[in-house]
Amino acid sequence: MAGRLGQSLPAGNEGAGVVVEAGASAAAQALLGKTVALIGGAMYAQYRSIQADQCLLLPAGTTAAEGASCFVNPLTALGMVETMRREGHSALVHTAAASNLGQMLQKICLADGVALVNIVRKPEQAALLRALGAKHVCDASSASFMDDLIEALAATGATIAFDATGGGKLAGQILIAMEAAINRNAKEFSRYGSAVHKQVYLYGNLDLSPTEISRSFGMAWGMGGWLLFPFLDKIGAAATQALKQRVAAELKTTFASHYAREISLAQALQAELIAVYGQRATGTKLLINPSLGG
Ligand SMILES: NC(=O)c1ccc[n+]([C@@H]2O[C@H](COP(=O)([O-])OP(=O)(O)OC[C@H]3O[C@@H](n4cnc5c(N)ncnc54)[C@H](OP(=O)(O)O)[C@@H]3O)[C@@H](O)[C@H]2O)c1
Repeated sequence: MAGRLGQSLPAGNEGAGVVVEAGASAAAQALLGKTVALIGGAMYAQYRSIQADQCLLLPAGTTAAEGASCFVNPLTALGMVETMRREGHSALVHTAAASNLGQMLQKICLADGVALVNIVRKPEQAALLRALGAKHVCDASSASFMDDLIEALAATGATIAFDATGGGKLAGQILIAMEAAINRNAKEFSRYGSAVHKQVYLYGNLDLSPTEISRSFGMAWGMGGWLLFPFLDKIGAAATQALKQRVAAELKTTFASHYAREISLAQALQAELIAVYGQRATGTKLLINPSLGG
C-alpha cells in the first residue's frame, strides 16, 4: 500500500443512479431521467459523468439499489461458465461458494445445465446452496472433504476450478482430487499422470497466506490468475454486450444482490463498519448510498 499513501484516489468499481443531465446527442438525451448502471471506477460519489454508451439502461421498475452491483459479480459468474466452455471443459468447481457471486453461479449453472461442484467451509453454507438447488456441495471443514470432493469430481467430470481463496492448500487439493477422479477410469498406470488438462484459476484473495501446492497430480495442469476486465477485453465488445443483456434481463432473479445494511460514504470509513464489511463474511455485504448524509 506504500504507493498510495498520501494520494487522493477515487474508488468504487460500479454503481447505479438516475441520469440528471445529459449531452446533446440523441443517445444521451434518451437516457435523461432513466435509471442506469455504470462501471468505470470512481463510483463512490454522488454524481458521475460518463459516456452514454457506457450506461446500462435498467429495466423499468428497477431501483438504483437493485442495479448497484450488476456488473462485477454477475459478469464474473457468467465469465466463469464462458471460460469453461471456451477452454474445452464441461463442468466446473467453485470455492467460497456461498458467496454472493457463488449463489449467482449456482443459479446460472442450473439454468444452463452445467454441473457445478461447490466448495464451502461451514455446514450452513452447504445448506444455503442446497436450498438454491445445488447438487454437489463439499464442506472443507468435514473430515471426509477430500473423499467427498473426489466423488463429486468423478460424478461431474469437472476439470476447471475458480478459487476465491487464493491462498493455503485448497487450490492444490482441487488438482489432486481432479487427478484422482480422472485416474479412476485410467486403463494403465502412467508415471506422468493423466493426460487430461486440469486448470485452477485463482480469482480472489480471501486467504492471504502463501499458496501451497503439493504436486501429486501429474504434468497436465495449470494454475493462474483470472480477472474480469482482461477477460472482457479478450472476448470483445459483442460477447460482453450479450452477457450484460442477460444480467439486465435477470437482475431481480439470478443476479439479485442482498445487503445487510445501507450506509453513507462517510460511514464507509468508520472503523466499526470497516470491521463488518472487512470480514467478507457470507451475507454481510453493505450497500453504499452516496446520497445519505452522516
Ligand atoms: N477476479 C475477479 O475479477 C473477481 C470479480 C468479482 C469477485 N471476485 C472475488 O470473488 C470473491 C467472492 O466475492 P463476493 O462479493 O461474492 O463475496 P461475499 O459475498 O462477500 O462472500 C465472501 C465468501 O467468502 C467466504 N470466505 C471469506 N474468507 C474466506 C477464507 N479465508 N476461506 C474460505 N472462505 C472464505 C465467506 O464465508 P464465511 O462467512 O465463512 O467467512 C463468504 O461466503 C471475492 O474474493 C472477490 O474478490 C473476483
